Amino acid sequence: MNDQTPTSVERAEKLEGIGCKRKRVEDIRFVQGKGNYVDDLKLPGMLYGDFTRSPHAHARVKKIDTTKAAALPGVVAVLTAETLKTVNLAWMPTLAGDVQMVLADGKVLFQNQEVAFVIAEDRYTASDAVDLVEVEYEALPVNVDPLKAMEPNAPVIREDIKDKTDGAHGKRKHYNHIFNWQAGDKDATDAAFKKAEVTIKEMIVYPRVHPCPLETCQCVASFDKIKGELTLWGTFQAPHVIRTVGSLISKIPEHKIHVIAPDIGGGFGNKVGAYSGYICAIVASIVTGRPVKWVEDRIENLTTTAFARDFHMMTEIAATKDGKVTGLRCYTVADHGAFDACANATKWPAGLFSIITGSYDFPTAHVSVDGVYTNKAPGGVAYRCSFRVTEAAYAIERAMDILATKLNMDPAELRMKNLIRKEQFPYTSAFGWEYDSGDYHPALQKAMDAVGYKKLREEQKKKQEAFKRGETRELMGVGVAFFTEIVGAGPSRACDILGIAMFDSAEIRIHPTGTGICRLGTKSQGQGHETTYAQIIATELGLPADNIAIEEGNTDTAPYGLGTYGSRSTPVSGAATAMACRKIKAKAQMIAAYMLEVHDDDLEWDVDRFRVKGNPERFKTMTELAWASYNKVPPGMEPGLEAVNYYDPPNFTFPFGAYICILDVDVDTGETKIRRFYALDDCGTRINPMVIEGQIHGGLTEAFAIAMGQEIHYDENGNVTTASLLDYFLPTAVETPKWETDWTTTPSPHHPIGAKGVGESPNVGGVPCFANAVNDAFKFLGSTHIAMPHDHWRTWMAADKLGLHG
Ligand code: CDP
Repeated sequence: MNDQTPTSVERAEKLEGIGCKRKRVEDIRFVQGKGNYVDDLKLPGMLYGDFTRSPHAHARVKKIDTTKAAALPGVVAVLTAETLKTVNLAWMPTLAGDVQMVLADGKVLFQNQEVAFVIAEDRYTASDAVDLVEVEYEALPVNVDPLKAMEPNAPVIREDIKDKTDGAHGKRKHYNHIFNWQAGDKDATDAAFKKAEVTIKEMIVYPRVHPCPLETCQCVASFDKIKGELTLWGTFQAPHVIRTVGSLISKIPEHKIHVIAPDIGGGFGNKVGAYSGYICAIVASIVTGRPVKWVEDRIENLTTTAFARDFHMMTEIAATKDGKVTGLRCYTVADHGAFDACANATKWPAGLFSIITGSYDFPTAHVSVDGVYTNKAPGGVAYRCSFRVTEAAYAIERAMDILATKLNMDPAELRMKNLIRKEQFPYTSAFGWEYDSGDYHPALQKAMDAVGYKKLREEQKKKQEAFKRGETRELMGVGVAFFTEIVGAGPSRACDILGIAMFDSAEIRIHPTGTGICRLGTKSQGQGHETTYAQIIATELGLPADNIAIEEGNTDTAPYGLGTYGSRSTPVSGAATAMACRKIKAKAQMIAAYMLEVHDDDLEWDVDRFRVKGNPERFKTMTELAWASYNKVPPGMEPGLEAVNYYDPPNFTFPFGAYICILDVDVDTGETKIRRFYALDDCGTRINPMVIEGQIHGGLTEAFAIAMGQEIHYDENGNVTTASLLDYFLPTAVETPKWETDWTTTPSPHHPIGAKGVGESPNVGGVPCFANAVNDAFKFLGSTHIAMPHDHWRTWMAADKLGLHG
């Protein structure tokens, strides 16, 4: 080796592998406006579809007359439920084991429900014709309150299953009841409450919100009558699931369906499910023999495609006088809207909600969830979180703060006292989840030190005294949240979708010149997969990340996978990528041994090459081995260098974080000014710190939006009063606070590279942190719980209720 020979460290740096702040390769096209989204697609002869929607939240559909719409020049066809019945597609199965109307069949059950689908030569004609469809409605009583859904005289939402006593998840108690799901030990928990020294009980409501991706849901369907093949381009977070479900629904053989998800402008759970727009576009293409495009507008997106949350959680904690938690109990009513189209793993009607014991060592706990029907849009997706995890995190983090107030303890001190200790990992929670790894106390301490927690509390005390003396009208709040996520759905023993185990996949092919391609079953919607998967391969195979192309979203070329949501890409497909690399590396090692005329065991790996142990001058680089794999393999070995891995994770991963928010509330205007927001995340091995930071910034911005303003609100007649971005809070750079990010690193012991998911964490931890901060500002005045969202008006109302306006 001479002085010019790069060292191992220098060679490793050049690869831009795990740990490198590699610039996002996809941004080259995104920042130049050169992305390729569904609505960029223009096919010869393409038609456009648009929906006539119901103005009523609940009404009988007495008559639909499409004559005038069909007569408008440029209109090619109009579909109604009657048309769809001829192909048996008036209703479609949901992911949750229910059925859902594709177009209104006899009744409408929520405002803006799809009633007719107009297909025209251009978008504008379709839109005009939508208004010419004449529908005669007879209004019915409306219920949008889930707590009233099971009252004896509540309006019957689903007449089609009124008398069915069995649902997809067991017995139904009422005609508006969907399921009851329970977990934990009820008797032991009740006993813990009986002998508790201190208890708290609070109705904690996580309102209905809606993921708000910049790009709405859309598709182009093109049916080739000659080949009997369907090509469907769409905004799909899970393209293979769409193909399988599409085949089951349409009876088109699966190999004749080609699903392609091009660039996607944000998903956040909104683009997991199957919507009427997809079915109607497909049927329209079959009927007309031409490609058909369907693109939602913003109002349609906010009011009809999958909502999130709407969990009404009566949460109780039992504890000792000195603040040790002894039990947790939670009874939840989950509002699933008019159809149960919740996107969860099949066996989990309330998702992973039983992560509700959070980061604390609860000896016993019990949850019971009742799902109910109301006159609201269906859905129930994990809006930037794992299935129902952010609901659980909000409930436990608010409840811990309420307990701290009752005990007159500092909320951080109460958390320190109850956090699961390092030596307890792997830790089995009262609900049976095995938390893979964690080191919670140093994380919270680091967060507290970073913000100067003690000093903040002193300052707050002084401000409270000044407020009482009438010297200021501002209240200071310090919000603390410590969360544990459960991501990486999932182990097949726990998770499947319609019977398909929730594994994921990676297929890697190395070309002769040492470059390659990796195809995966996941699908990026802005998370930077093209950048980060290549980094895993760079480190595993010793090939520069720049030499690896990443491809997702085409079901013809990608190996089968369950898609991207709930931070599952890194825990599952990231693991599959590493495992596929290891198969390739094992073959490369045999080729190296053959070329160097040594035994396999005499070789050791060094960054980008196999070298002879004790003789490092004799080596073969991975690039040389790639070339050799196409012309110099040992006798009897297949040529080529490729591998596929379908990874069924042995467990979920459990990222965690400690967040602190400092804010000031003006009690006369309700305005809240975020002074600081500090977020410490631990996602195990960090693949790309810059991408992680971007994920945290984005997730915190969404958490800020949810906590401080977002709500899909219905009036008592079922009208959505927040149907556009005029009323639905989407923060811009002006309102968004400045984020301070930090980290600790506690690798996952079961993941091949020790990585846990991260994309959802900031939403899971951020929402309760903001909420705790607002509540913290008011609690010295006797307030127990102010519900989200904390917009100016509601905050002003909270101040008013406390008598602060004279
Ligand atoms: O499934 P999804 O892509 O939404 O979430 P994720 O697995 O948390 O990954 C989000 C992005 O963060 C991806 O580009 C990951 O590669 C990256 N990431 C990382 O760099 N290190 C981690 N430990 C986890 C995620």
